[in-house]
Amino acid sequence: MTYRDQYRESVADPEGFWQRQAEAISWYEPPKRILSQDSSGFYRWFVGGKLNTSYLALDYHIEQGRGDATALIYDSPVTGTKEQYSYSELRDAVARFAGALRKLGVEKGDRVVIYLPMIPQAPIAMLACARLGAVHSVVFGGFSPHELAVRIDDAKPKVVVTASCGIEITRIIPYKPMVDEAIEMARHKPDYTVVYQRPQADALLEEGRDRDWDEIVAAADPAGPVPVEATDPLYILYTSGTTGKPKGVVRDNGGHAVAMRYSMEAIYNSAPGDVFWTASDVGWVVGHSYIVYGPLIRGCTTVLYEGKPVKTPDAGAFWRVISEYKVKTFFTSPTAVRAVKKEDPEARLKEFCDISSLQAVFVAGERLDPPTYEWLNDMLPVPVIDHWWQTETGWAIVGNPLGLGLQQTKVGSAGVPSPGYRVRALNEDGEPCAPGQSGNIVIELPLPPGTLPTLWQDDERFRQSYLAAFPGYYLTGDGGYVDEDGYVFIMGRVDDVINVAGHRLSTGEMEEIIGAHPAVAECAVVGLDDELKGQMPVGFVVLKDGVDVPEAQLEQELIARVRKEIGAIASLRQVAVVQKLPKTRSGKILRRTIRTLAAEEDVPVPSTIDDPTSLDELRAAMQKRQMGRYQQAV
Ligand code: COA
Ligand code: AMP
Repeated sequence: MTYRDQYRESVADPEGFWQRQAEAISWYEPPKRILSQDSSGFYRWFVGGKLNTSYLALDYHIEQGRGDATALIYDSPVTGTKEQYSYSELRDAVARFAGALRKLGVEKGDRVVIYLPMIPQAPIAMLACARLGAVHSVVFGGFSPHELAVRIDDAKPKVVVTASCGIEITRIIPYKPMVDEAIEMARHKPDYTVVYQRPQADALLEEGRDRDWDEIVAAADPAGPVPVEATDPLYILYTSGTTGKPKGVVRDNGGHAVAMRYSMEAIYNSAPGDVFWTASDVGWVVGHSYIVYGPLIRGCTTVLYEGKPVKTPDAGAFWRVISEYKVKTFFTSPTAVRAVKKEDPEARLKEFCDISSLQAVFVAGERLDPPTYEWLNDMLPVPVIDHWWQTETGWAIVGNPLGLGLQQTKVGSAGVPSPGYRVRALNEDGEPCAPGQSGNIVIELPLPPGTLPTLWQDDERFRQSYLAAFPGYYLTGDGGYVDEDGYVFIMGRVDDVINVAGHRLSTGEMEEIIGAHPAVAECAVVGLDDELKGQMPVGFVVLKDGVDVPEAQLEQELIARVRKEIGAIASLRQVAVVQKLPKTRSGKILRRTIRTLAAEEDVPVPSTIDDPTSLDELRAAMQKRQMGRYQQAV
């Protein structure tokens, strides 16, 4: 069936369409209802269905006679390690770790926080939780102890799983001291931490609370898959909102399994046995969906890569992995492509590798800017496909579904809506925008299976953040337009969320941290365009009256604070002191104007501005500090 037919069917008869997709996975009990609303009025898929996600990702394939097929390839240039797990081996490792968790008291519905680098123990721990019906919450390794503590306090895990260290190119980053600090900071105290000791660093274990991964696994009995309700949570994944408190996006078991299987086929054109490589991190939604669950539920071979696009050891890393494992589908981010392009503009390192297995490259995480698209497209003989999605949706809202027949691509557009998504652009009054006219990109309710049913124990925040702005629609937080052919163009966030190197960060959170410094009266953090990372946060601060501190010293203090509170990935590198921030007469900081000033020469003075001279001062500060478009000017 072609894309157009499937799309039409998915919106004309969502229940019929998704019932058919649900029949493609194996349930212990089929759903009693396909789509319904819960007591809070939120839409739920597949009520009454019983299944187990770890069964679908592992045991199911073994039962189909594919136990010897390769499930997971671990490739780690930072440690010089390569390992492979067949489906049977991975199932056994998962079952044993699940048994070990059970011995520590973890049961269905309990939470487990996972703070691990890109090693096989990360997917093993995730799938072990899924096996028990426990809810995992993976925290990206680049986050600080403070961010980990915030997540521990919200998710209230029984167990935290970690490793002795992560490795950033050549730098060993001890994880265990960060976990200790986070637990010290958190109000909620987990019963146990489980530590995987890596040869690169030895973690000190505290008697009683800390358990050694290998020891508890050796003493455990394998655990079988526990049937759960389709609507039971599989995981919580925290993502940046507009405030310091991250949002706990909930993913259920049933809708997620159906969406993962469907998207692997329809969007990525993947079949059992295909090699699928997503060069992301399990700490992000892309890693959850397309390093772990999607490829395994589909019976593919997934590649877990512990390295970078460059420097491990060079910009040929992508081509090497593709050729070594015969990768058919490669998924990466525009930032990673730009990093490769910067170091190897002619992609000469590709010439040493046979990448003939490759059939498509998908990119997401941030806007695929036309120059990056064109470079990759010129370098590779296969389609380069942008697709747009979010932690909240778990799979592509808009893309170019390769499995349904590749559509024409339009450079600058993320593609056409995936089956099940009714994407619209609305103006501030909630009226539909004309084709080509920019507005708020929203999705008509109900969202398809696999998308968030709510936020973890915070229905009200879910309602306020996503449903309140335009009744009947889910607010994506992205701005853009839909053209006359139905192609969607995503132009960037319209809220205080920014995208730095494909990592989603909150400028509001950075402002809270900077604003807490004793010298700072007020501040604004905005994301300015950056050639490599897409966006980079920069700060502008106004000092309290009477404070006299050298700008360079204050800048270093503020950068260090943000790094300590959020983590290394915050990437705040510049903070300038100004006398005044541009504001409206009612006192609202004109953040969009600040961004525009950094990007464009002629910026009209907003009619609502309180003091137009604040713009001149800001421009001078940007020029002096070589920010935004002034980067190359001096
Ligand atoms: N654990 C600990 N620290 C981490 C980390 C992790 N998992 N990931 C990143 N960091 C640290 C980095 O070491 C760096 O620290 P530094 O400031 O001390 O140098 C900092 O966080 C910023 O990292 P990053 O933004 O990744 O910049 P970089 O200069 O180290 O690397 C790229 C640049 C382009 C190579 C890298 O950003 C990259 O690979 N980006 C692609 C990301 C991606 O694929 N995202 C997909 C999401 S869909
Ligand atoms: P995350 O939740 O971390 O996956 O980040 C989601 C946000 O990243 C989206 O709301 C967009 O702002 C941005 N994003 C992701 N993919 C794309 C894309 N293909 N095009 C444009 N923006 C994207």
